[in-house]
Amino acid sequence: MTRRLEGKVAIVTGGGAGIGEAISKKFAREGAAVLVVGLAEDPVGEVVEEIVAAGGRAAAFTGDISTQATAEACVQQAVELFGKLDVLVNNAGVFPATDELDKYPVEAFEYMIKNNIYTAFHMSRAALPYLQKTRGNIISAGSEAGQMGSPNITPYGGTKAWVMTFSKGLAVEQAKYGVRVNCVGPGPIDTAWTHKETGPMDKKMEKNTVEGVPMGRRGTPEEVANVYLFLASDEASYVTGATYFVDGGVTSSKSLSGEEVPSELKKEPAGELVLSHSQDGHAEIRPQDTGHMSS
Ligand SMILES: NC(=O)c1ccc[n+]([C@@H]2O[C@H](COP(=O)([O-])OP(=O)(O)OC[C@H]3O[C@@H](n4cnc5c(N)ncnc54)[C@H](O)[C@@H]3O)[C@@H](O)[C@H]2O)c1
Repeated sequence: MTRRLEGKVAIVTGGGAGIGEAISKKFAREGAAVLVVGLAEDPVGEVVEEIVAAGGRAAAFTGDISTQATAEACVQQAVELFGKLDVLVNNAGVFPATDELDKYPVEAFEYMIKNNIYTAFHMSRAALPYLQKTRGNIISAGSEAGQMGSPNITPYGGTKAWVMTFSKGLAVEQAKYGVRVNCVGPGPIDTAWTHKETGPMDKKMEKNTVEGVPMGRRGTPEEVANVYLFLASDEASYVTGATYFVDGGVTSSKSLSGEEVPSELKKEPAGELVLSHSQDGHAEIRPQDTGHMSS
């Protein structure tokens, strides 16, 4: 273990499940104190317990960080508990529906604006004064869909394009304060979202999504967390305004070339982290959030 985040304090939004669980555990193993953030029903408390049991430092924050007051309270809690803030990971997000646009539920679109865009805006805004003090950094979850656009999830791709462009502008704006800002752009990752049983994809979309990847498989949450770790660490001291794709080559692909990968090469790596919540994510609209934002 190289402890590449020794002495650092990080907030990981959406840290209770999926990719966020892996980021939280990876950062803690590398020496960071981590505030694991999620909605009340997310297993953030369990992730914290698992980190602490493994000898790491972590605390839980539950609340909807798409609102200004809760985002500010979240940043405040990190600073009060751990004394400062070095890294903000804007990983929280939702993926509630798939359909062609003329049938796409308006409610699902508004749900993504709220949870994919407002979250990154309010958390970044609240964190910046503290990140300027530590010369810290922000890493946000983009997506290959935000770069390429994807059929049947066009509004989702649009929200991720917003995150990626927002991050580039913020990187340039904040460079004079020593704050770096980057994005990670995952391809299909092995969380609740990319399985027809637990997410909004049907059988055909799931097959096309996985086989459209030149490497012929989903990525693991840990493979994505490895790239977040690099960008968060001082090793990335000259990297800002970048989006690092962790997508098995899909952003560069033009055909269903994953079909040709032999089965032994499609095996996901075992990894080192013990992840119990990869499939516990957020793949439908919460009952308490039904009703349009604008109504
Ligand atoms: N899974 C993929 O294939 C994939 C691909 C590209 C990009 N991404 C991005 O990676 C991130 C994580 O995806 P995942 O598959 O791990 O999802 P996930 O559902 O497993 O985890 C996301 C977590 O964020 C939480 N969250 C959402 N809105 C919140 C809010 N307002 N306040 C607090 N917590 C909130 C959810 O409840 C959930 O626990 C997302 O931003 C997503 O857009 C994922």
